[in-house]
Amino acid sequence: MTAARGHVRPFRADLARSVRLFRAFRVEQTDPDRFYGLLARDTVAQLRTYTDLADRLVLDVGGGPGYFTEALRDAGARPLCVDCDAGEMALRDGVIPDGAVLGSALALPFRDASVDVCFSSNVLEHVPDPWAMADEMVRVTRPGGTIYLSFTNWLSPWGGHETSPWHYLGGRRAAARYARRHGRPPKNRYGESLFPVSVGEARRWARRCSAVETLDVLPRYHPRWAVPVVAVPGLREIVTWNLLLVLRRR
Ligand SMILES: C[S@@+](CC[C@H](N)C(=O)[O-])C[C@H]1O[C@@H](n2cnc3c(N)ncnc32)[C@H](O)[C@@H]1O
Repeated sequence: MTAARGHVRPFRADLARSVRLFRAFRVEQTDPDRFYGLLARDTVAQLRTYTDLADRLVLDVGGGPGYFTEALRDAGARPLCVDCDAGEMALRDGVIPDGAVLGSALALPFRDASVDVCFSSNVLEHVPDPWAMADEMVRVTRPGGTIYLSFTNWLSPWGGHETSPWHYLGGRRAAARYARRHGRPPKNRYGESLFPVSVGEARRWARRCSAVETLDVLPRYHPRWAVPVVAVPGLREIVTWNLLLVLRRR
């Protein structure tokens, strides 16, 4: 059931919320509607702590099957989903959702400063040039607009996606092991559709990007008290799990 338009549960980054998310994560493969529905509602509530969404034009970059696009619409926004893979967009019920645009995150088919909010969840690690994608997200956001950019960093326990935790021994080795055990290559192929992106690199990109002001850098799924970990080199690469950058376009 979708929430009434404009209504979203207030967001609280407490321990109970993290436990809820990590529990739901266990059914990601078997019950994606449950996991992604919950995560999308949680994410939109989190995004609303930074920006109003009512009637805002929100671009969901790499939105795939559209769970986040739908939750954004339920929150009163005017979302547009862009993805380079029509198959991913039609994953849920075989049809591409209304308003979806086929295009690349590396060359977004939108004018400069044309959206109020540019949003992306778990796409950055799937493109060969993550900082070109991040620059594109900044380019299409209007001055004063918000950029929400999150990704699973490589040294996170889930960094290798379905090949985890063997990615700690190397991406190629983890992919080969997966193929041996499952008789098929992993969906997320190291060096082709999965790339190592670090927390440190993300922070450095945000610092050198003069077109944005950083509002927050945090471990997306963790309680608020865990935020300082993103400032600790080394440790942050392992415990952050999923990094969230929230930026304001200057
Ligand atoms: C792990 S899925 C995430 C989907 C959605 N954002 C979510 O969190 O449920 C990664 C998505 O990124 C898309 N993607 C990968 N490379 C892309 C690119 N260069 N341009 C646009 N989308 C891309 C894929 O097609 C896929 O839908």
